[in-house]
Amino acid sequence: MISNTSPWWQHGIIYQIYPRSFKDSNGDGIGDLEGIISQLDYLTWLGVNALWLSPFYPSPMADFGYDITDYCAVDPLFGDLKTCDRLIEQAHQRDLKVMLDFVPNHTSDEHPWFLLSRSSRQNSRRDWYIWADARPDGSPPNNWLSVMGGSAWEWDASTAQYYLHTFLTKQPDLNWRNPAVKAAMFDVIRFWLERGIDGFRVDAAHYILKDPALRDNPLNSSVQQVLHKPMGDYDSQVHLYDSAHSDVHAVYRELRQLLNTYSTTQPRFLLGEVHIFNREVWANYYGADLDELHMPFNFDFIRTIWNARDIRQSVDDLEAHLPPGAWPNYVLGNHDEPRIMTRVGSGMARLAMLLLLTLRGTPTLYYGDEIGMHDGEIPPERVSDPMAKNRPGLGLGRDPERTPMQWDGSPNAGFCLSASEPWLPLPADYQQVNVAVEQEDPYSLLSFTRRLIELRRSALALTAGSYSPIEETPAACFVFRRQSAEQSYLIALNFSGEEQALALSELGRGRIILSTCLDRGELIDLTLLRLRGEEGLVIALESL
Ligand code: GLC
Repeated sequence: MISNTSPWWQHGIIYQIYPRSFKDSNGDGIGDLEGIISQLDYLTWLGVNALWLSPFYPSPMADFGYDITDYCAVDPLFGDLKTCDRLIEQAHQRDLKVMLDFVPNHTSDEHPWFLLSRSSRQNSRRDWYIWADARPDGSPPNNWLSVMGGSAWEWDASTAQYYLHTFLTKQPDLNWRNPAVKAAMFDVIRFWLERGIDGFRVDAAHYILKDPALRDNPLNSSVQQVLHKPMGDYDSQVHLYDSAHSDVHAVYRELRQLLNTYSTTQPRFLLGEVHIFNREVWANYYGADLDELHMPFNFDFIRTIWNARDIRQSVDDLEAHLPPGAWPNYVLGNHDEPRIMTRVGSGMARLAMLLLLTLRGTPTLYYGDEIGMHDGEIPPERVSDPMAKNRPGLGLGRDPERTPMQWDGSPNAGFCLSASEPWLPLPADYQQVNVAVEQEDPYSLLSFTRRLIELRRSALALTAGSYSPIEETPAACFVFRRQSAEQSYLIALNFSGEEQALALSELGRGRIILSTCLDRGELIDLTLLRLRGEEGLVIALESL
């Protein structure tokens, strides 16, 4: 192991677990915390450093746990607090950090706070959510739209006002302008920090504050304004007033201070889901004095066209816009996006993994991507995701990337007992694509990923070194250098299906440490470097 003084969230690799889909221990076809505990040894074998668990809190599951009725408990589907404590303890024993999903923008409409809030206009919890009168014609207070389709306002007949829901009607937005809401939500953070949680992924982080005057959003005349994927009617507006109000920064500054008070022995960490693609605005979430989120997620690789030029541009653009001292991060996929394997194909998926794990910045790995899971096919009668149900035909459903983890070739892929029915169907190829088969195959994507992680963990230049792109390479290649005081690595990626020849004579000689094909280890003269189609190489340079 390297001696590395940077905090864990900078040099470590984050692994995202979608608890419903990771490992079922009790035969109900839904993954659970006990199942995660049973696979911790696999995660240490793989070599990741931190787990981010998508929500496991009590929930009616309208949005599969992102609609919460109690922030400080565990839904019986997943286990209980005791099991959660054991998970934290067992993970820590293995030197794995544990991060939770913190969902500040909304609760479930079945949360006791909302039940009180909607019970009467006089209730002390009324102002914990965002209520507004109808316009004179009875229509919603403004034109804001829900990310999940339709108006963002829902009429409550008994109290004759509308409430705001940026997502489902079953996910009313909390009113973060009310100090009591902030205090209650900060107590949630304290509750988990005191249980030993190492950090939080802040859900929908930029949505929590909106225009207090509730002004109408302008209409969108430009396709440039859309999010990374077409979102139907939601794209018809510029989301100027319904999210990302500048007051949001004061909240994250305060939240960071709260985390700091718990960071005396080891750093606690805030990672935000910020779907903003204007780099300047996005970078503000680090805070003017790096005093807000430790990092906003960088989702650019999910929407960038997969070729050498665009990927390089994305990296350079990120590097150029980082505030001084801020730390970058990269993501290939998550529970809301089609899987990398499906987006780019199998040869490219290896290249993508090499890129993710050699760039300067914290990588987040989505469960199953290390074995090359692709999007599952979901027959119409098994569609579960509200995003798909609310907007059929737009291809927005997120079930395909949430299918059960493929552990082995047994019925139900070792995810659940053979007699149980997994909550989503397994992809047909699970007998070839699974952990057990790939652990035995030294050339599998899993073996490749593990070796890459091992390399990253042992090489200071790859975890903490500088990044510099190499100019004058063929258009199909992205080549960059990672360098520390003592090591220099060259990463060469061929994004085309054809062989590419590179002349990098000024770099001298180097040894190939890893190829995406796992079949090279020779000493080479960089005067002529040949890359096979879709091949990526890590080369240790002889001179710095
Ligand atoms: C985030 C989550 C997504 C969820 C939404 C509402 O975008 O990643 O899964 O549906 O927030 O909570």
